[in-house]
Amino acid sequence: MDLPVIVLGMGGVGRSLLHQILEKRAFHKQEYDLSLQILCLCDSRSSMADGRVLGDEQIHQALKLKEEGSSLATHPLGVVAEDLKDPVGEMVKQGTIVVDCTASSAIIPLLLSAVDRGCKIVLANKKPLTAEQEVYDHLVRTTLPAPSPIHGVRNLTVSRWEATVGSGLPIIATLNRLVCSGDEIHHIAGNFSSTVGFITTGLQKGRPFSQMVGEAHSSGYTEPDPREDLAGLDMARKALILARGLGWKMELSEVDLVGLYPSSFASLSLKSFLQRLPELDHDFEEQIQEAAAQDKVLRYFANIEKGGIRVGLAAVHIDTPLGRLEGTDNIIEISSRWYPTTPLVIQGRGAGVHATAAGVLSDIVELAFTG
Ligand SMILES: NC(=O)c1ccc[n+]([C@@H]2O[C@H](COP(=O)([O-])OP(=O)(O)OC[C@H]3O[C@@H](n4cnc5c(N)ncnc54)[C@H](OP(=O)(O)O)[C@@H]3O)[C@@H](O)[C@H]2O)c1
Repeated sequence: MDLPVIVLGMGGVGRSLLHQILEKRAFHKQEYDLSLQILCLCDSRSSMADGRVLGDEQIHQALKLKEEGSSLATHPLGVVAEDLKDPVGEMVKQGTIVVDCTASSAIIPLLLSAVDRGCKIVLANKKPLTAEQEVYDHLVRTTLPAPSPIHGVRNLTVSRWEATVGSGLPIIATLNRLVCSGDEIHHIAGNFSSTVGFITTGLQKGRPFSQMVGEAHSSGYTEPDPREDLAGLDMARKALILARGLGWKMELSEVDLVGLYPSSFASLSLKSFLQRLPELDHDFEEQIQEAAAQDKVLRYFANIEKGGIRVGLAAVHIDTPLGRLEGTDNIIEISSRWYPTTPLVIQGRGAGVHATAAGVLSDIVELAFTG
């Protein structure tokens, strides 16, 4: 089977996905009789296509350009595009898989029109699924065929978004399976940030908060401004994706989000923020001691329960999967009607472009055989 694919985003994940597609061509052909045909590649300002399927040599050239930090527009087949809806829209046809490896909300109109035109979509990008509820519903609760899609019912044949939570860990697939059977999910708790896991592990070992943040920052584990990790917004997005997957209707603004630094630190320059971090050390030390007195440890995690989502620091019992978590692993605990006392647990590496791209590739292959 020939499967047309459009890849949006040529950063770490998009490039690793293309490398894996090229590397696994023979495997996919032999095992699944599947040939992934790349129609078009896009970065933030340009697209690359030639009206037919791109050859592997052309894909290698595009990868080389992006690895060197150039734009796709510099390739002979590249075109500068103000709005990718123009060049890509023409190629968006029934049965094509559109893969979003961008980190942008600007891509949402393109994804919505792709779904309406009978495409399937695979997302590593959390932003479309954490935009307004109606955008989410349009992307994952639409029944084909075009041109008269029905919106509102759950549909597992149109979209996949495994890599949006926990990188390549099979969290969304597991949750979807539980939901399909009608299992009633009582409680989800999870840490979906490797950076925050690294910091809380250090705190637990008696290291000061300021030192842990400084170390994570200088080792490149955090975003250039570590507040992006410490604010918890990324984890809030992941928690919202999980909650919406349970059928909850809610917006990102409704998540009860408490970051790891006081709001008064938000407006500081990066330099002052890092310099003033030691002011927070004592409070963290006290919280650790209070927790330890009750056989608990401090964890920064998302808690999804009784219609609400909270993302923040809290003490959890040492003798739970989340309490035992160390280092940079991600973890999710799911308690449900069928997993009432011992939760279903998925734990493992929750970041890294290659594992993330592998999650995206699995989604593509799975979608090839649905609908
Ligand atoms: N990295 C991970 O470990 C990881 C794990 C799980 C999920 N994810 C998610 O996967 C996505 C990609 O991550 P990444 O690390 O590859 O990001 P990245 O390195 O920042 O790459 C983003 C890519 O998207 C392109 N882009 C930005 N805006 C665009 C637009 N409006 N239209 C088309 N392309 C656009 C950028 O173009 P230019 O090249 O022109 O800048 C770049 O090629 C993100 O949403 C991220 O949250 C990443």
